[in-house]
Amino acid sequence: AERTLVLVKPDGVRRGLSGEVLRRIEAKGYTLAAVELKSATPELLAEHYAEHAGKPFYGPLVEFMLSGPILAVVAEGQGVIAGFRSLAGATNPTEAAPGTIRGDLARDWGLKVQQNLVHGSDSVESAEREIALWFPHL
Ligand code: GTP
Ligand code: MG
Repeated sequence: AERTLVLVKPDGVRRGLSGEVLRRIEAKGYTLAAVELKSATPELLAEHYAEHAGKPFYGPLVEFMLSGPILAVVAEGQGVIAGFRSLAGATNPTEAAPGTIRGDLARDWGLKVQQNLVHGSDSVESAEREIALWFPHL
């Protein structure tokens, strides 16, 4: 079945929203294939965010992702890659629609990076690459 990598970012774990994110994934009918609380490293994030290297928000993004534990999740199901991105909502939490994770639970804090609670892979290729990075044993 199709699989995607979901991360509950440090803001989500800090705010106690890990369970809420897992609840929404399961309520939608996707399966949890792996769930693990992790600490990122600069090396892991350099690979995970390779597409963003050199962008103005890259430094603050990596710093934010190192600011606390991350809940790494592999979710499984037909259409889960696009489906989870629908559940997550727009990248910018101010623009994210109500009903989505970011629309309901995140807001703009005026910081240097969008603290938007979750990450979701954006394609089959990204999902396979990211799952291998975060869950090398899977
Ligand atoms: P992810 O699921 O987190 O990958 O979200 P996305 O695919 O909607 O966003 P993208 O991959 O483009 O960017 C990765 C992360 O970088 C975002 O989730 C934000 O935390 C941050 N980010 C992206 N674009 C911007 C931006 O224009 N400004 C700021 N401040 N942060 C950004
Ligand atoms: Mg992305």
